[in-house]
Amino acid sequence: MLLEGRKAIVTGASSGIGKATAERLGREGANVCVNYYSDKEQADAHEVVTSIERAGPGRAIAVQADVGSETDVERMVAETVTAFGGVDIMVNNAGIEKQIPLLDTSQEDWERILRTNLTGTFLCLREAGKVMAGGGGGVIVNMSSVHEFIPWPGFAPYCASKGGVKLLMETAARELAPKGIRVVNIAPGAIVTPINKFVLDDPEAKHAVEEEIPIGRMGEPGEIAAAVAWAASGEASYVTGTTIVVDGGMSLYPKFV
Ligand code: NAI
Repeated sequence: MLLEGRKAIVTGASSGIGKATAERLGREGANVCVNYYSDKEQADAHEVVTSIERAGPGRAIAVQADVGSETDVERMVAETVTAFGGVDIMVNNAGIEKQIPLLDTSQEDWERILRTNLTGTFLCLREAGKVMAGGGGGVIVNMSSVHEFIPWPGFAPYCASKGGVKLLMETAARELAPKGIRVVNIAPGAIVTPINKFVLDDPEAKHAVEEEIPIGRMGEPGEIAAAVAWAASGEASYVTGTTIVVDGGMSLYPKFV
């Protein structure tokens, strides 16, 4: 087991990559706080808790919190410390996207996406980081995206948020290394999760995405969870301030002539 006795929080863990990650960390021996956004996700989050506890050996709790709310994040971290005695793995996975032409993007849409993807990552990094700094250190893993470096027309706020997470991660890695905290981004390519429903429901769009991937298929959430488990473990003890790309080769731009 890679993470025996570790104490983890995974944000947005009621579905998709977050769910697969929470379950994988539990199987690797970590105790996991399964964060979920709102009442709508509560039942799914409790199912994730049940599946972690059934598989063992890690224990799990479900905690509601909006990652964009400072008080919610403070409460989530405090509840995890109370339940497990600390936090030494923080996985900033919660994220949203919306397809809108840049010139039609409202300030409200812009702020909603930045608030969840960038401010949420900052708040969780800061609050978990304080606990780690006062304890024995830890690891912060941010779920960014290949769109931390690949521009994506129609998704400007999303790309701006993920690009922001890249420099936040790099700066935090420098600043927090002396406190025993590593900070790493995982950049998934196209993964089969609810966020991609608009592609998965449209065979032509799905085929077009697959053509962009040398491996020839979209990734599975478990393939991202495996990278998170490794990055958070002692096996990655010399890895900080970098992005691990898990994209089936998508960022090799296979259609570029
Ligand atoms: P998803 O939609 O299944 O997961 C996103 C989760 O974030 C949901 O559980 C949602 O309830 C939660 N969430 C949204 N706003 C929140 C808030 N304010 N507070 C707390 N939780 C909140 O989609 P997926 O694909 O699993 O996304 C996970 C992360 O992976 C996101 O950051 C996304 O940008 C990133 N990603 C996904 C890719 C994909 O192809 N699926 C590719 C690259 C990055």
